[in-house]
Amino acid sequence: MAKPILIVNGPNLNLLGAREPEIYGHTTLADIQSLCESAASELGMGVDFRQSNHEGELIDWVQEARLYHAGIIINAAGYTHTSVALLDALRAVALPVIEVHLSDPKIREPFRHLSYIESVAAETISGKGAAGYVEAVGAMARLLAARG
Ligand code: DQA
Repeated sequence: MAKPILIVNGPNLNLLGAREPEIYGHTTLADIQSLCESAASELGMGVDFRQSNHEGELIDWVQEARLYHAGIIINAAGYTHTSVALLDALRAVALPVIEVHLSDPKIREPFRHLSYIESVAAETISGKGAAGYVEAVGAMARLLAARG
């Protein structure tokens, strides 16, 4: 059995649906998980979908992926803009990475314009809401197929 993709969600994404719906929409994280699982299963892939509010736990999961996952899709949420440690973990595992955001941080407040994750990501998908996650699953399938 091929290794699944790890989809990692950072802080406050557990509140999707209720959290600033004018920015993030009404889709819940559970809805996004189902969308990703369906998209991945159509492509013959498995998905391990997780969320944490804790930077260290996100880093532990990224490190674990070295052994257990084929690639990482990450919405690091607020840690996108602050966490050198999460960037270092993603670099260390050397797996294909796709960055995803529901909103487009580059057209929001200036403090969201810097992404530490961007430099390690093969692709960044922003501003497409939940559909961006589905697009990321497809992009990861293509990346993995190209790697053979
Ligand atoms: C986000 C954008 C980040 O700036 C913000 O801190 C989030 C969500 C997004 O998905 O649009 O929590 O990553």
